[in-house]
Amino acid sequence: MMRMRLLLAPLCLLFLFLHLYSVSALNSDGLALLSFMSHWTFVPPRINSRWIPSDSTPCSWEGVQCDAATHRVVSLNLSYYDIPGQLGPEIANCTQLKNLDLSYNYFTGQIPHSFNNLHKLTFFDLSINLLNGSIPASIGNMTQLRYLYLQNNTLSGTIPSTIGNCTQLQDLFLNSNQFQGVIPHTLNTNLLRFDVANNKLTGTIPFGGSSGCQNLLFLDISMNFFSGGIPSTIGNCTSLSQFVAVQCNLVGTIPSSIGLLTKLSILLLPDNHLSGKIPPEIGSHTKESNEAA
Ligand SMILES: *[C@@H]1O[C@H](CO)[C@@H](O)[C@H](O)[C@H]1NC(C)=O
Ligand SMILES: *[C@@H]1O[C@H](CO)[C@@H](O)[C@H](O)[C@H]1NC(C)=O
Ligand SMILES: *[C@@H]1O[C@H](CO)[C@@H](O)[C@H](O)[C@H]1NC(C)=O
Ligand SMILES: *[C@@H]1O[C@H](CO)[C@@H](O)[C@H](O)[C@H]1NC(C)=O
Ligand SMILES: *[C@@H]1O[C@H](CO)[C@@H](O)[C@H](O)[C@H]1NC(C)=O
Ligand SMILES: *[C@@H]1O[C@H](CO)[C@@H](O)[C@H](O)[C@H]1NC(C)=O
Ligand SMILES: *[C@@H]1O[C@H](CO)[C@@H](O)[C@H](O)[C@H]1NC(C)=O
Repeated sequence: MMRMRLLLAPLCLLFLFLHLYSVSALNSDGLALLSFMSHWTFVPPRINSRWIPSDSTPCSWEGVQCDAATHRVVSLNLSYYDIPGQLGPEIANCTQLKNLDLSYNYFTGQIPHSFNNLHKLTFFDLSINLLNGSIPASIGNMTQLRYLYLQNNTLSGTIPSTIGNCTQLQDLFLNSNQFQGVIPHTLNTNLLRFDVANNKLTGTIPFGGSSGCQNLLFLDISMNFFSGGIPSTIGNCTSLSQFVAVQCNLVGTIPSSIGLLTKLSILLLPDNHLSGKIPPEIGSHTKESNEAA
């Protein structure tokens, strides 16, 4: 009994020391990353061996980049690690993050609401995962966001109209999900690339009217259930170079204003219910056109 107590006391002290030491050593972003990792069901060996809890910062960890002066994490790139598990809300504690690339993994579950704390995020890629649930309306709080890639998941619900508050957004890829409802009319007018192909969207195509689209280069709305046909206001999207609208329930005629799109090089409209003549204005600029009316 006595020998046990004598043995245990130093062990406890040692444990306490190690515990305190590691907690006080690793900075808060490092702790947040370890908590983020705790939601994975498998940790890839390259990460397991390099995310060392006894480091004072996570700045040398696999996939991590820090601000040199503050040692705060500014970039986390865990693309192509085949990580299975959930997205822990703790990553939102890394409030200086500018780039977050978690594409090509096996993340399941929902996008945590806490992500709206990442006010500085400019590049956000969750594409090619197994995420479900909807896009949190709080996405509108990420006002620095330029690139948002959520394609190839099983996300559902509507595209929140608050996404219009992301006024810097240039790329918005939501293709190959289960989104329903309408394309919000609030989309910012500086968009360069917009892809919503392969969803369950309905309603009319909003581009070119009050919402503007003068910078839009690439638009893919294929495989949805739109109504109302191609709006003549599409003629306002004068930068458009690729317009792809395969099998998305388009009716009516192709508006002649398409001829105003002098940069158009790819126009794909097969498998719709379009009727009437192909406007002669189209041929004058397009290198490749493939309308099935
Ligand atoms: C995240 O930040 C909150 C508030 O500062 C703190 O209470 C919490 O412990 C942090 N969590 C992690 C995992 O860092
Ligand atoms: C993340 O890493 C992958 C592969 O190493 C690379 O292709 C991708 O461009 C990186 N993402 C960012 C945002 O730098
Ligand atoms: C998301 O998928 C998980 C299984 O991975 C399931 O338990 C959950 O109900 C799903 N949630 C939604 C909103 O579809
Ligand atoms: C956006 O952030 C502010 C504080 O910065 C918060 O009060 C508000 O609830 C957030 N909005 C959403 C939709 O999350
Ligand atoms: C978006 O901006 C409007 C004002 O323009 C504001 O009322 C709304 O709360 C904002 N929403 C989010 C999610 O930031
Ligand atoms: C994304 O989804 C589309 C449509 O389901 C599929 O054709 C494509 O191969 C997927 N891409 C990847 C990288 O899985
Ligand atoms: C461009 O949009 C305005 C509304 O902002 C509309 O009045 C005009 O007809 C549109 N132009 C074309 C060519 O559709």
